[in-house]
Amino acid sequence: MQNFGVAITGSGSAVPTNSLSNEVLTQLVETSDEWIATRTGIRSRRLASANDSLQAIATQAAWQAIAMAKIAPTDIDLIILATSTPDDLFGSACQIQAALGATQAVAFDMTAACSGFVFGLVTAAQYIRTGVYQNVLLIGADILSRWVDWKDRRTCVLFGDGAGAVVMQTSNRDRLLGFELKSDGTQNQCLNLTYQPQSQPLVNDISVAQGNYQPITMNGKEVYRFAVQRVPEVIDKALFRANLKADQIDWLLLHQANQRILDAVAERMHIPQHKVISNLARYGNTSAASIPIALDEAIRAKKIKDGDIIAASGFGAGLTWGAAIFSWGR
Ligand code: ACO
Repeated sequence: MQNFGVAITGSGSAVPTNSLSNEVLTQLVETSDEWIATRTGIRSRRLASANDSLQAIATQAAWQAIAMAKIAPTDIDLIILATSTPDDLFGSACQIQAALGATQAVAFDMTAACSGFVFGLVTAAQYIRTGVYQNVLLIGADILSRWVDWKDRRTCVLFGDGAGAVVMQTSNRDRLLGFELKSDGTQNQCLNLTYQPQSQPLVNDISVAQGNYQPITMNGKEVYRFAVQRVPEVIDKALFRANLKADQIDWLLLHQANQRILDAVAERMHIPQHKVISNLARYGNTSAASIPIALDEAIRAKKIKDGDIIAASGFGAGLTWGAAIFSWGR
């Protein structure tokens, strides 16, 4: 069977307008700009209001990616929306398809928390490689502020909202050089946004469970340990598959969870700081959106140039983690 190449040819990003600084956060919980900045690198985050929707910011990011790739919405064969926070639990990808007028595209949501973008990238690549689809729109978008306990200082300081998107296209040259994906459900309790059922009797001895999702809970120390250990391993594996060494990476693009995780991973892999992409200070942890937002900003700032090799790694709830090594451009 013929294998087709994959290239990432466009990027875009969008964040809500409202910005909440660490300083203002101190009005909500007992914390300080100093504590948050030194422990996480975060200075402020964008928060979606009731007038914002996941669909709207995701669509905005998607338009930019489509424009950069110089395709029309009707050229898109597949839309994958990586999110844990859809506007509709049945999925939000089809609303984006409708908003874009991507009438030829099949669209679906994919959930892998903060690993969603990397998992989505690899999933999209399989459709392109097998020749099934030529043009794929991949979006990573999350509005975790809907699910944060704003009275819990251990978690509420960490998260922000946003969306990032890329267009992936079939190419003569395969730019996805290697990848590795991992899951470990035995560690699921480290990071959760779980449904709490409440029994509601219907008739006779039949009842249903109608409850609510509970705010995010996290074992910060465990997640930190997991990330610092597993992320270098999974990048090494993806590099091995790409037949590359760590010193051949131009950019280390990690899920923007915490500056200390970025620093520790870079140090373990002997990757110098100037190769590490970070925008945590302005957005905090935007979950599935963090990698594509940082990617888009670096491309538009002309930091990332045609042919540059990027090692991207997502990690988070599930637990899930993964890495993709790709080069930017057609
Ligand atoms: N402001 C002030 N004090 C705080 C805050 C805060 N926002 N949060 C916690 N503290 C206090 C705690 O109450 C505790 O006080 P105590 O000793 O009196 O009980 C003290 O600070 C230390 O708390 P720890 O939880 O041990 O703090 P730690 O040094 O581990 O830092 C942090 C917490 C930043 C979350 C760290 O564990 C971490 O970086 N974990 C990685 C997790 C992560 O990045 N998650 C993001 C989401 S997951 C993902 O995207 C993969």
